[in-house]
Amino acid sequence: MLRSALLNVMIKAAQKAARALKRDFGEVEHLQVSLKGPANFVSAADHRAEQTLREELERARPGYSFLGEEGGRYEGTDKTHCWIVDPLDGTLNFLHSIPHFAISIALERESAIVAGIVYNPVTDELFTAERGKGAFLNDRRIRVASRKRLADSVIACALPHPSRGDAVLARHEHSAVQERVAGLRRFGAAALDLAWVAAGRVDGYWERGLAPWDMAAGIALVREAGGFVTDLSGREIALTSDSILAGNEPLHRDLLRLLGPSARPAAAAAG
Ligand code: IPD
Ligand code: CA
Ligand code: CA
Repeated sequence: MLRSALLNVMIKAAQKAARALKRDFGEVEHLQVSLKGPANFVSAADHRAEQTLREELERARPGYSFLGEEGGRYEGTDKTHCWIVDPLDGTLNFLHSIPHFAISIALERESAIVAGIVYNPVTDELFTAERGKGAFLNDRRIRVASRKRLADSVIACALPHPSRGDAVLARHEHSAVQERVAGLRRFGAAALDLAWVAAGRVDGYWERGLAPWDMAAGIALVREAGGFVTDLSGREIALTSDSILAGNEPLHRDLLRLLGPSARPAAAAAG
């Protein structure tokens, strides 16, 4: 399959980081005996992956700015371009030897996301999208699901850690959606949740409190797969948005009705 030079740069970087990440994933199982061991090991693997991605992307496109989960923001000489990178999305899965995690890379140009890739090294599934050129899983074009009824749909969501303080709102949202859909799922890697919406595996997805590196590549994928993505107030999604809602047009609309501001209970409205 013929891909653009830009996507090739992103894919090459992801594949290099993925080789080490996959080796490290194989090691994690052996470390489970010590409680502290695996967490430190995973954190080192995470940092190494980001370092590799940064070096590879910098080599291919010198001067671009870089925003990574581990190292924060680095201002390059070219301020119009910024890589947005999560070197390991789904850390808790990785730590528990659950093979559901990914590398996520997006490119922002003048504040617009122009390309995104999400790569699961274990399944070797590579989701790619470039503005105006469609979304792909490996070399196959993908589109959001065409289901129209919530009752037939499988929706992905998150289970926020109790320490975040929005448990009442989360419980309300889960039961509001669960009562209406065929199935509710929590997979544990936001970038893959969005990629799976793009691939039509799940019909919709919402989450609160994500960071730019969790969402950037996935937003490009959903849009290029013909999906809708906004925040939970129905506003256009931005990397600074405090919530995200994705799906095809009818299910996005129905989910917004269930999860939007007017549906929130008074006790949870602040969340
Ligand atoms: C997390 C995952 C998870 C989501 C969390 C994220 P990390 O990213 O995407 O699915 O619910 O909010 O922080 O920490 O594994 O990179
Ligand atoms: Ca993440
Ligand atoms: Ca991460």
